[in-house]
Amino acid sequence: MDGHVTRTTMKLLPVLVFVCVVSSTADESASAVINMVVREGDDAVLSCSLGSRSIKQELFDWKKDGQKEVFMYDRGSHYNNNPSSQDPDFRGRVFHFEQQLDVGNASVVIRPTKVTDSGSYTCDFPFHQPRRRSHIVLVVGASPEPVIKILAETDKGVQVHCAVKGAFPKPVVQWKTRAGNIVPAEEPQVSERGGSYDVILQTTVTKTDYYQCVATQQEINHKIYTETLVRVVPGEFLFIIR
Ligand SMILES: *[C@@H]1O[C@H](CO)[C@@H](O)[C@H](O)[C@H]1NC(C)=O
Repeated sequence: MDGHVTRTTMKLLPVLVFVCVVSSTADESASAVINMVVREGDDAVLSCSLGSRSIKQELFDWKKDGQKEVFMYDRGSHYNNNPSSQDPDFRGRVFHFEQQLDVGNASVVIRPTKVTDSGSYTCDFPFHQPRRRSHIVLVVGASPEPVIKILAETDKGVQVHCAVKGAFPKPVVQWKTRAGNIVPAEEPQVSERGGSYDVILQTTVTKTDYYQCVATQQEINHKIYTETLVRVVPGEFLFIIR
């Protein structure tokens, strides 16, 4: 099919990382739950602090989803010099801030993040009350560009295909005209692999226009689309059919 133009535009958050305090529970009075969103490949600094005194001679422990060992610091020894019981998922990707120990800062950075790092992180000082010093819910988002293919001309119009592959969280995919009207489409085909989602959405368009395949991830406030010009010349496809 001749004369189609494809263009991709991203609408990003003004800041890629935003943190907001959502709730706190009674037995974790010292720590509210912090929700955090980063894009896959970026660094995620998970914040934790005991106060303002040195924690060089203390023990702190970061866990994911209550069980996976992410990072443990014990009086100068930590996983980056002794990785025996660290979860293999995190090996070589989690670092503390040596200079910051003097001021009580037990934050760590995951560098770089993967979609599968999404989950719930806790930072504990087991020999202090309260033990728990922070609880962070991390979402690592991946927002691939939709890819449009023009499949075939049928007696009903031109069949177009849009694929969004490897997205997280699961995107809502829609066909729209450039003017913003939703184009009715077939049932989306959704599959999951390795913790991210592939979504395929097909439709048949009946008139020449610029069409956009839009992927929206509400949870991370992200929208991305690819646009293409589809020419529908009734005489032409009727000629092909007959
Ligand atoms: C701890 O140190 C890191 C790295 O310098 C910094 O990003 C973070 O804000 C600090 N956190 C606190 C609670 O001071």
